[in-house]
Amino acid sequence: MSQHSRTASLLVEIMSGLPDTMMAWTKVHGQQNGFELIEHAVPSPGPGEVLVKTASTSICGTDLHIWLWDEWSKGEVELGTITGHETCGTVVGLGEGVASHSIGDQIAVECHLADWTCPRCLEGNAHICENGSIFGLHSHGAFAPYFTIQSTNARHTPEGLDTAHGSIQDPLGNAIHTLTGGPVDGATIAIHGLGPIGLFAVNAAKALGASKVIAIDWENTYRMDLAKEIGADLVLGKGDDIEAEILAFTEGKGVDNSCEFSGSATALSNAIKSTRMGGYLNILSVYGDTETIVPMNDIVFRYLHLKGINGRKMWSTWDIMHDLLARNTIDVDMIITHRLNWKDFQKGMELTHSGQCGKVVLDF
Ligand SMILES: NC(=O)c1ccc[n+]([C@@H]2O[C@H](COP(=O)([O-])OP(=O)(O)OC[C@H]3O[C@@H](n4cnc5c(N)ncnc54)[C@H](O)[C@@H]3O)[C@@H](O)[C@H]2O)c1
Ligand SMILES: [Zn+2]
Ligand SMILES: [Zn+2]
Repeated sequence: MSQHSRTASLLVEIMSGLPDTMMAWTKVHGQQNGFELIEHAVPSPGPGEVLVKTASTSICGTDLHIWLWDEWSKGEVELGTITGHETCGTVVGLGEGVASHSIGDQIAVECHLADWTCPRCLEGNAHICENGSIFGLHSHGAFAPYFTIQSTNARHTPEGLDTAHGSIQDPLGNAIHTLTGGPVDGATIAIHGLGPIGLFAVNAAKALGASKVIAIDWENTYRMDLAKEIGADLVLGKGDDIEAEILAFTEGKGVDNSCEFSGSATALSNAIKSTRMGGYLNILSVYGDTETIVPMNDIVFRYLHLKGINGRKMWSTWDIMHDLLARNTIDVDMIITHRLNWKDFQKGMELTHSGQCGKVVLDF
């Protein structure tokens, strides 16, 4: 069933019957939206890469930034890029030298591309590689029926995994990486910000054995209701005195582990003041205002462990996630509130923009 060709004396294997061209959602205009479905060649896998037929790609907050064309995305994304980085699919081609994968393998993408040789990679922090780049941001991604990716970043998924669950491993992994920056099993946890990642963190905290999970948003009642449904023990919002409520719920001590997923300075301050003495505060959020004021003395006198979180640990976060998904011990279905056909990309972006959703997945 497959064609073989010799390139520089090493075998390249491509499944037969693949088209030469494809239509793909491409950021072509430097303005809000600015996406068009345009024709591209189906890419060929380079040395060490696999060619993947896309099954599902979910919409990330980062994709929304690019859709909105804010200052950050103008500096990161070149016009003409096919974006989309939260994805999974089937391997249909192997580049030169790839021995780790076979045609037909089901994979999900880790979007942080690393060189594996710099000091950060060698110390086990490839997610912050000094020469790193991001698939679907700095190179073509997966709002397209086919894409290529380094074989190292094509992670095998558990047998028979729903492709929506395959695609959301990037944000689910963000949530797990943030949570595991502190104690989880038997611990009290506060999740600040109930966007898709915060909601996945509520799920993951429960699945990893947290004793109590407090979920906090501001005014998104759709997401606060969802948090309650997926098992949060206490849900708070802007009408509540968040610091006082968290202290009251934890016998005046504060939680063991606070996770910040909102990007709001108010939430960050609430989190600092409601984490127990010697507790952990893990921050994944990106702050619009980088000069955010922080109650420093609370951090010092409460002896807090404060940690910035980026991406997913390669590969310990993926190993935890693989185990949770394979054993079906995490229920992410309620957070995947919308599954659309990939041609309905614009509808998916508008839904994500509205905030009246959990995770939106595009199926191919
Ligand atoms: N560091 C990384 O590697 C990385 C990766 C992905 C996303 N992020 C960041 O993580 C964050 C979460 O991503 P997301 O897509 O789930 O975000 P999102 O924007 O969908 O959700 C943020 C939520 O926070 C809520 N919120 C606003 N103010 C609040 C407050 N004062 N208290 C509590 N909640 C409040 C909003 O109502 C919203 O529901 C974002 O800041 C995103 O930029 C970081
Ligand atoms: Zn993402
Ligand atoms: Zn590196």
